[in-house]
Amino acid sequence: MAHGGTATQQERGGTVSTKRGIVVLDFGGQYTQLIARRVREQQVFSAILPCTASLAEIRAQEPVGIVLSGGPSSVYDKDAPICDPKALELGVPVLGICYGMQWLTRTLGGKVERAERREYGPAQLQVGRESKLFAGMPKSLKVWESHGDHVVGLPPGFYVTGHTDNAVAAIEDAAGRFFGVEFHPEVNHTERGVEILRNFVFEVCGAKRNWNRAGFVAETVENIRRQAEGARAICALSGGVDSTVAAVLVDRAIGERLTNIFVDTGLLRRNEFHDTLEMLRERLHLNVIGVDASERFLSKLKGVTDPEKKRKIIGNEFIAVFAEEERKLVAAAKGLPVKFLVQGTLYPDVIESVSVKGPSAVIKSHHNVGGLPEDMPFSLIEPLRDLFKDEVRQIGRELGLPDEILTKQPFPGPGLAVRLLGEVTPERLATLRGADAIVVDEIRRAGLYEKTWQAFAVLLPVQSVGVMGDGRTYGNTIAVRVVESLDAMTADWARLPMDVLERISVRVVNEVPGVNRVVYDISSKPPSTIEWE
Ligand code: XMP
Repeated sequence: MAHGGTATQQERGGTVSTKRGIVVLDFGGQYTQLIARRVREQQVFSAILPCTASLAEIRAQEPVGIVLSGGPSSVYDKDAPICDPKALELGVPVLGICYGMQWLTRTLGGKVERAERREYGPAQLQVGRESKLFAGMPKSLKVWESHGDHVVGLPPGFYVTGHTDNAVAAIEDAAGRFFGVEFHPEVNHTERGVEILRNFVFEVCGAKRNWNRAGFVAETVENIRRQAEGARAICALSGGVDSTVAAVLVDRAIGERLTNIFVDTGLLRRNEFHDTLEMLRERLHLNVIGVDASERFLSKLKGVTDPEKKRKIIGNEFIAVFAEEERKLVAAAKGLPVKFLVQGTLYPDVIESVSVKGPSAVIKSHHNVGGLPEDMPFSLIEPLRDLFKDEVRQIGRELGLPDEILTKQPFPGPGLAVRLLGEVTPERLATLRGADAIVVDEIRRAGLYEKTWQAFAVLLPVQSVGVMGDGRTYGNTIAVRVVESLDAMTADWARLPMDVLERISVRVVNEVPGVNRVVYDISSKPPSTIEWE
């Protein structure tokens, strides 16, 4: 046999597929995407569909199993989200998590009741009966709960497989088709949670390992090629990981028919426009138009101090510049219509902005998602919208992108404008650029650039008194923000070594004219955000 190691033909990608995986139906839970991700980590494809997906849409995925996600509602709420109950008749196993379990219970004829006391956080699960879900696990597990209702009556043919002090915590039916857990196996705080999901995926659903990075690339490129046949696409490239990986995927699919536009908003970091443009062109061989629009942006921002106004102006101006380039491209397109817009939207952008895929709660709006004018007649190509950042980095690695891009920390679309509190002027930008370059340099030197999520400087709109040499100064304050995070949805400030903080402080005050004070931001997200504006 020519098989290497223990991998079967399927495992090595022979039949890599985005079909025959696990469909997650989204009831609006904060952890929905984590469920899909945990499944993908098992090399089984997983797609998320809104709970409102039609039976045909679900069937089109040819799922071998279905997971019903959690969600913030109570099944008794007036507009509580529901699935088509026929989804339970597709003949594949179904696992309901939290709200998903309650909806499943109620739909199949059981009873759910509002709990006296909501349960949040850790609870002790006692496994009471043999179950494929808990095969190979201890009888007592620490699990993570976040729910308000309880199952109090089982649907016909069901029995309880686990409970906590307060409630029924796990159920299944005798036929082994329906499973419910009150807790969240997908979160890290649940002991052996990954194994519980793995048991569902392999032992219950009998899924095959049919998904991996190479498979994702091959399948995505093929889909884009089909979707964009006979048409051109454009992409607003920022040189960040997300848009670059998205552009390279589309470039693989349609080559020169993709035009990338990289705009200098005048709000980029030191040397960023020049260096990034060079790398995209020379090293990645992408077809990129570099547009220096810095003067336009800066003149529109003159006198503006309100953060939301700044964001709006930048967003609108960006779209105006982009639309101009698009018109030029259309004029030059000669027959091939410019039909597609490529965006490096990731899953956290989606749930923090607009609720497109399902009812996951909207948190905050970012200008680069959902902000395009309606008269731009593009269909979106968003090859990364189901993925988390670290998954995108893995895809980038698969595509052979240089580390320089893959390890690059995120940078917001509105750029330095949201890190410079108060008015955006060329002088203040120069101050911020100088300080920012030092922060990043010292973080890199300390070997912390890849260990932290973001590290940057913020220029505050306050002046304070200092003394330098023998003279009194009245200068600017720089705040240093360094955070650790997995997906930007939550973040904590980095506990930097004191000597790194010291070097940053000394260098910023000595090397950046007009700065006489440096402070370190020790706020987590929530309640703060990562950016200051
Ligand atoms: P916040 O400040 O909301 O930021 O905690 C979360 C992450 O998003 C980035 N960010 C943006 N990215 N356009 C972007 O492309 C934006 O308008 C924007 N605002 C914030 C931020 O840098 C952090 O990584």
